[in-house]
Amino acid sequence: MRESHKGPPFMERYSRHVLVCTGGFCSPSREGRALYARLASLLQREDLLFGPTRVKRSEAPCLGVCDAGPIVAVYPEGIWYHHVTPELLERIVVEHLKEGRVIREAVFHEMGEDERTRRREDEGG
Ligand code: FES
Repeated sequence: MRESHKGPPFMERYSRHVLVCTGGFCSPSREGRALYARLASLLQREDLLFGPTRVKRSEAPCLGVCDAGPIVAVYPEGIWYHHVTPELLERIVVEHLKEGRVIREAVFHEMGEDERTRRREDEGG
């Protein structure tokens, strides 16, 4: 058994944290579970598991959206993706996490941005 010590734990640097909803309200057949299982191998394939570009991943029973899932959120940007399929997850890993390009057409919310404001801006108003 690993010996515990009394000080705070050490954590290596990382660049992003991905949260995957595995709950059944946003995705009745709970497709988020398969996405989360696939995420580790995609991160490994793209060399995103170690070093300063490391991406942490977590599964959550609910991310408070409960519609249009599976829902995936990427921090620190606070970018939220909806209806994430295995194909979209692969794009998120390669294009967003590795290359830094957000997949705008699959985003429904961005932290700090009011959705109504974004829609008005998109409509040119
Ligand atoms: S069950 Fe997925 S966001 Fe609530």
